Amino acid sequence: MSELVSFHEIQTTDSEALKTEITNSLLQKNASLSPKFLYDNLGSHLFDAITLLPEYYPTRTEELIFQEYADSITQAVGTNRIFIDLGAGNCQKAAQLFSQLTPTHYFALDISVQYLREILPKLQGQYPQIHMAGVGVDFSKKLLLPDAVPKSERIFFYPGSSLGNFSTIEAIDFLKQIKEQACDGGLLFGIDLMKDAPILYQAYDDPLKVTAAFNLNILRVVNHLIGANFAVQNFSHQIVINEELMRVELYLESLQNQVVSWPGHQRVFQVGERIHTENSHKYTLNSIETILEEAGLQSQKIWQDPKNWFAVIYAK
Ligand code: AVI
Repeated sequence: MSELVSFHEIQTTDSEALKTEITNSLLQKNASLSPKFLYDNLGSHLFDAITLLPEYYPTRTEELIFQEYADSITQAVGTNRIFIDLGAGNCQKAAQLFSQLTPTHYFALDISVQYLREILPKLQGQYPQIHMAGVGVDFSKKLLLPDAVPKSERIFFYPGSSLGNFSTIEAIDFLKQIKEQACDGGLLFGIDLMKDAPILYQAYDDPLKVTAAFNLNILRVVNHLIGANFAVQNFSHQIVINEELMRVELYLESLQNQVVSWPGHQRVFQVGERIHTENSHKYTLNSIETILEEAGLQSQKIWQDPKNWFAVIYAK
């Protein structure tokens, strides 16, 4: 029985490289920030709050699929596997599958190891028979796993349509890395399907403004990381539904002409100028099949909700 959760931290970028990455993206003509900076400890809690919003349908819809097709999913994925949760957050989605999939090991990967330290010990108490470990890693660049992950039948778990926050090229590259490291296992993941714009507007610009807080929090994270002086109140959350590229785009729009500074640099933002912070791609079954194929994977089984808003896929 495992009593203590172990934690690993894999450094993919040192703080100087991080500063350079952020500086370069802020100094581009069209300023941007990588969505990975949305998830510090507060950002992870704000994302959890988003998933509780009635307007944010992906979480609820995916959960329904997992419940409705529990037996079929278990049959396709198999039991007693090594379960690797990519972007685990509060680990709840994986935990809901533990009783049916009975994994021997659970590795929770997240960019915010601090958040995992809050969550995992409680989960370990509930499931003492599973070997659990938390891994703080930014896998958006390279999927690095600790040596402690056994090299047999690994099931990568990537729910919530998180794949949609990558560009298509990045998604294919990421899926290729999963294929290489699955050791005869596979990938169980969720993807959001393209739907009418009003539903997307409600989900990504909710009336309670939780998504706005989640998006604006990135400025606090960046202030902390590079010593910048972004004033959160001088920006507003904006979204664009890009039907052609099948994605929701998140921005922070400058509410006034202003200068933002950080050591060695400054950037002028004119009123109305935007910082791009995230793309949330939506798919069709055909478009995701094409991406999987490009990565050398094949869907083994696809489960959908009755409205065809979301799909859960097992691929190998
Ligand atoms: C984590 N990811 C799948 C969420 C999404 O829907 O793209 C992040 C998010 N951004 C705004 N709301 C939720």
